[in-house]
Amino acid sequence: MADSPNDAAAVGSGPSTRPAAEVSRSKGEPVHFAGEAARPAGKPARLAGELELRKISIRFGGLVAVSDFSLTIRGNELVGLIGPNGAGKTTIFNMLTGVYRPTSGQIFFCGRPLGGRKPYRVCQLGIARTFQNIRLFKNLSVLDNVRIGAHKTVTYGALSAVLRSSAFERMEREIEERSRSLLGIFGLERRAGEIAGSLPYGDQRRLEICRALASEPSLLLLDEPAAGMNTSEALGLMATIRRIRDEFRIAILLIEHNMEVVMTICERILVLNYGRTIAEGTPEQIQRDPVVIAAYLGEPEEAVVEAGL
Ligand SMILES: Nc1ncnc2c1ncn2[C@@H]1O[C@H](COP(=O)(O)OP(=O)(O)O)[C@@H](O)[C@H]1O
Ligand SMILES: [Mg+2]
Repeated sequence: MADSPNDAAAVGSGPSTRPAAEVSRSKGEPVHFAGEAARPAGKPARLAGELELRKISIRFGGLVAVSDFSLTIRGNELVGLIGPNGAGKTTIFNMLTGVYRPTSGQIFFCGRPLGGRKPYRVCQLGIARTFQNIRLFKNLSVLDNVRIGAHKTVTYGALSAVLRSSAFERMEREIEERSRSLLGIFGLERRAGEIAGSLPYGDQRRLEICRALASEPSLLLLDEPAAGMNTSEALGLMATIRRIRDEFRIAILLIEHNMEVVMTICERILVLNYGRTIAEGTPEQIQRDPVVIAAYLGEPEEAVVEAGL
């Protein structure tokens, strides 16, 4: 499977450096999801994004890519999944979204078993993702890419679309407004009319997140969203991701290769190595865990000395 940062880098024009855009939209109108408007003020965040993985494993021929992986994410949590290349992180996303079926184990989303559902059904249930190798409609406009992400929310029928009924017009207007607001969060509103494939690499990554959000997920899966970005750009993006979590009150599971970056925003982190969870805890706990340090830096003794522990 061609799923590497190198593949992604080939489609863009190199990293851009615009961290300011990530955090500058504090005065704009917040973007509300359809479900949010109906939520009574003062009520706690919904638990819609609740996910439970129970001992899931997957085998490709002789390789056990993920082994007995368990994880629970509550409705508004921001959890990090880290680990060296080939650890099994993307494979977990693929199992979660119906691309692969686990060889064993169970997946529950909002209390319902997810097993065996096709990717489009998983998306309808409220799980959206981005890909390690960016997947956009490169020849369509930036705005259209986000609008496509919103198709799940469309309630008019085919006949309405053909006849361009008032319901169709109203819904399309709403989707466009919402899509533009999402682009605004990422500083992309001025690029709405541009062809997606012509955007700088970092903007393509941001656009993919906008498209995922347009489907109004309650759980967002981000696969190395900062890959190929420099540290300052990556930190800017992380600030935006945290804001999205707070503003939209959704759960986020974030795969990130760069430890420093993931430590800045995640409340809880799981570390995967050779398909197994080797540590779980707060950023502080993970940072000091000799097993984690060893997985990242080499042999335990050397690693502990290098980390100054
Ligand atoms: N479809 C597949 N067929 C065979 N092996 C696969 C497949 N998908 C992933 N793998 C293997 O599973 C392991 C984990 O891969 P992956 O989940 O992409 O790692 P990560 O995202 O942590 O870098 C790797 O050894 C990879 O080669
Ligand atoms: Mg991966």
